[in-house]
Amino acid sequence: MRGLKDKIIVVTGGAQGIGKATAVRLNEEGAIVVVADRNVEGANQTAAQLGGRTIAVSLDVSSRESWKDAVTQIVDRLGRIDGLVNNAGVTRDRSLLKMTDEEWNTVIDIHLRGAWLGCQTVIPHMTAQGGAIVNISSDARWGAFGQSNYSAAKSGLVGLTRTIVIEHSKHKIRVNAVAPGPVLTPMVEAVPEEVRKGWLTNIPLRREAQPEEVASVIAFLLSDDASYVTGQIVGINGGSII
Ligand SMILES: NC(=O)c1ccc[n+]([C@@H]2O[C@H](COP(=O)([O-])OP(=O)(O)OC[C@H]3O[C@@H](n4cnc5c(N)ncnc54)[C@H](O)[C@@H]3O)[C@@H](O)[C@H]2O)c1
Repeated sequence: MRGLKDKIIVVTGGAQGIGKATAVRLNEEGAIVVVADRNVEGANQTAAQLGGRTIAVSLDVSSRESWKDAVTQIVDRLGRIDGLVNNAGVTRDRSLLKMTDEEWNTVIDIHLRGAWLGCQTVIPHMTAQGGAIVNISSDARWGAFGQSNYSAAKSGLVGLTRTIVIEHSKHKIRVNAVAPGPVLTPMVEAVPEEVRKGWLTNIPLRREAQPEEVASVIAFLLSDDASYVTGQIVGINGGSII
């Protein structure tokens, strides 16, 4: 892919799953990857696996202070930021009437506030040279049983993505979102087998995605091969029409 070589790209939640696969792929494309995760040990392990120029930073995406510290460290060490993947996430599933404030707030804070804070903190370091951002939405943005919190956050990311395009295209910053269906990561492996089997009946390809199949689309959207692609929500879902 063109234009990723030597680009400094921050991947949140890069310790495992889709974030780790994205860090691996960006590294293969020649980018300088910053693995940012609240799981510091996992982030260090990913960085060590990638070797060379990769760095790991401690980051809790739901905290403004933590974003400030992490971005200061990154800019002190690397000088600028060219790309951001707002990927960190958790689930706290429960049906609407039973969901607690804590379950609602945790998911909204990490997915939606986390991506908002990430954009707010990183964009000032992109405006001189331009940049690219990818937010990780989900097929669940259309609604999913037991996921009013997650679904609302993933829908919210669509509005956030489109708004940044309107406000920051003048700075040559492109912003897109990907919307995966089920992807084989620890997040999905925790879901009961019978629920996962049910999903597959709605997926024409009849399988879950591998994290690498999401990472490749994220890398494309960050690359110069996607130089005229912005404000898009790209489905990666085996053909399912929800
Ligand atoms: N797996 C799927 O089926 C699927 C489908 C659609 C969208 N997604 C989205 O993709 C993203 C990655 O999912 P995954 O399946 O790889 O999950 P995962 O649970 O395997 O990994 C999530 C990573 O985020 C980190 N993280 C969690 N909270 C954090 C915080 N507050 N600050 C910093 N890091 C934090 C975790 O430590 C972990 O490394 C999430 O946004 C998820 O909602 C996943």
